[in-house]
Amino acid sequence: MDNDAPDEAFADFRKKQLGGWGVAQIAAGTGLTVYAIWVGIIQPGFRKVPLRLQVPYIPASRAQVAHVMTLLRGRKGGLVDLGSGDGRIVLEAHQQGFTPAIGYELNPWLVRLSHFNAWRAGHHEKVSYRKEDLWKVDLRECRNVTVFLAPSVLSLLQQKLHTELPNDALVVAGRFPFPDWTPCRIEGHGVDRAWAYSMQAQRQHTSKKNDKLTESNLNNELTKEE
Ligand SMILES: C[S@@+](CC[C@H](N)C(=O)[O-])C[C@H]1O[C@@H](n2cnc3c(N)ncnc32)[C@H](O)[C@@H]1O
Repeated sequence: MDNDAPDEAFADFRKKQLGGWGVAQIAAGTGLTVYAIWVGIIQPGFRKVPLRLQVPYIPASRAQVAHVMTLLRGRKGGLVDLGSGDGRIVLEAHQQGFTPAIGYELNPWLVRLSHFNAWRAGHHEKVSYRKEDLWKVDLRECRNVTVFLAPSVLSLLQQKLHTELPNDALVVAGRFPFPDWTPCRIEGHGVDRAWAYSMQAQRQHTSKKNDKLTESNLNNELTKEE
């Protein structure tokens, strides 16, 4: 058969069955392409972050940003957004009077996009976007903290915030609440919901819970001894 004619070549190609090796090659090629896009474009900067702590970029909705800001009303001073994405929360916080407003973001593309968005809004150099791993940031001086991360990392983040934040800090979580904390206020519904947590109240809840646990353990021990 003359394979130079396109129609014939196509018909010939259709007649050929894809063997197991061909399927394996296509699967490996597709997998490699997806991995390259993930590492190179979507999640660059995350190589040193364990897979279980990697959180993808999903921007907060307008309503979510508004609810976060409502919960922060009346607060003063600086604000940090942990995992700041395209910088929208930080920009809004700056516009609402928080100074300094700082975003920590590992993806360099998103850090660049944040700078561009701030420049476009006329607030370039008034906000700060840092390419840093949020797990390594020292939070001891932070009084207003916002987060919108995956539920899988919130338990670990709870521990970091509990250890480092000062008593007068307020933490606002968007979309997903902290698993073991009790919010002092909630705004919005569904995916736009936001939860505010006072560190001082949180520490009181935790110490009461621990007291109750100790008391019930003690009672159990006493009942066993009787
Ligand atoms: C769900 S997005 C939220 C973005 C933004 N805060 C907002 O509300 O629109 C989570 C962001 O956290 C970033 N992130 C995840 N892990 C991080 C880490 N260890 N250090 C810094 N940024 C991180 C991701 O790159 C992503 O942009």
